Amino acid sequence: MIYQFTREETASTTDDVKKTLQTKNMLVTGGAGFIGSWICTILANLGTHIYCIDNLSTGLTENIAHLHGARNFHFENLDIDSSDPPKIRVDGILHLASRASPEDYQREPVETLLTNSVGTRNMLELARKNDAFFFYSSTSEVYGDPSIIPTPETYWGNVNPIGPRSCYDEGKRFGEALCMAYQRKYGLDIRITRIFNTYGPRLREDGAYARVTSRFIRQALTGQNITIYGDGKQTRSFCYITDTVTAILKTITNKKAKGQVINIGNPHETTILQLAQKIRQLTRSQSKIVYKPLPQDDPKRRCPDISKAKQLLNWQPTTSLQQGLEKTIEWLRSRLGKQF
Ligand SMILES: NC(=O)c1ccc[n+]([C@@H]2O[C@H](COP(=O)([O-])OP(=O)(O)OC[C@H]3O[C@@H](n4cnc5c(N)ncnc54)[C@H](O)[C@@H]3O)[C@@H](O)[C@H]2O)c1
Repeated sequence: MIYQFTREETASTTDDVKKTLQTKNMLVTGGAGFIGSWICTILANLGTHIYCIDNLSTGLTENIAHLHGARNFHFENLDIDSSDPPKIRVDGILHLASRASPEDYQREPVETLLTNSVGTRNMLELARKNDAFFFYSSTSEVYGDPSIIPTPETYWGNVNPIGPRSCYDEGKRFGEALCMAYQRKYGLDIRITRIFNTYGPRLREDGAYARVTSRFIRQALTGQNITIYGDGKQTRSFCYITDTVTAILKTITNKKAKGQVINIGNPHETTILQLAQKIRQLTRSQSKIVYKPLPQDDPKRRCPDISKAKQLLNWQPTTSLQQGLEKTIEWLRSRLGKQF
């Protein structure tokens, strides 16, 4: 059966983006993950030839099941840290592979550092051999616990280099530095985005892989306590997946993004308690909100300054938190089964 793309999956592209990407060969690392599978789906719809690699450490084959059988989609179960890079011709590499959930990367700190260093180097070498552009998905975590809010790209960060989060924060900082070194030494076309919390359908909600939005929704739908770490006054800024993907596609197709580092996120700051209350209200849940100790080095505030994305990419998010949460709740409700 031919997969029918949803309106959400087709709406994130403009004609310019379509024209640039439809004839290209693209490698997506981490393509079976949350953001990666959205990118593969949208690119597949455009006609781009996609070579998707993933070691399924946190990704799921069900995220890309709808693409199997498509002539322009090829999947390989491969670990970018230890395997020889695939012998393929590509025009561009979208490098998204990395553990990204705090509980998970703190459980696997060595693997997290290696993927962002050795794995990133392997993919940069492949880009160099192919003279391909290289997109690196960095994170707001490179800012650590920032003293400037909203945080611009010019802020250098406040990161504990030996703390429990450093495997991710410093791994991504090293990844950025390596990308820039390849640009300086070899003239590689590098594009980096620092992604702030992104949520939406396919964001894992189970165990150590869960992120705060999907975990709260699951807890609310199943009648479990909604667990807040700390007093809930810490803030985050939540960007809906289609907004993030639109920004990524603009980054890889806009010449002005070459050699740039760009914040991608929703500048609307929300406390974690407000998020929990909103989810409780939207799911009409009776779940109790309970508090657990705050983990070490948890950032107090997260809010992006997106002036650069607005100016360079003509991009800003268009989905409100309420709209995005409603879509995510609908997805998780159907995933969990009818009883919820
Ligand atoms: N979702 C967010 O809020 C967010 C925020 C900032 C940055 N990011 C970055 O975006 C990227 C994608 O994040 P996501 O939320 O989709 O996470 P995800 O865990 O859903 O996706 C990551 C994918 O990478 C794969 N992977 C990990 N290590 C690998 C390896 N060594 N070889 C091959 N595949 C490997 C995983 O199996 C998974 O499918 C990550 O690099 C993450 O750091 C995400």
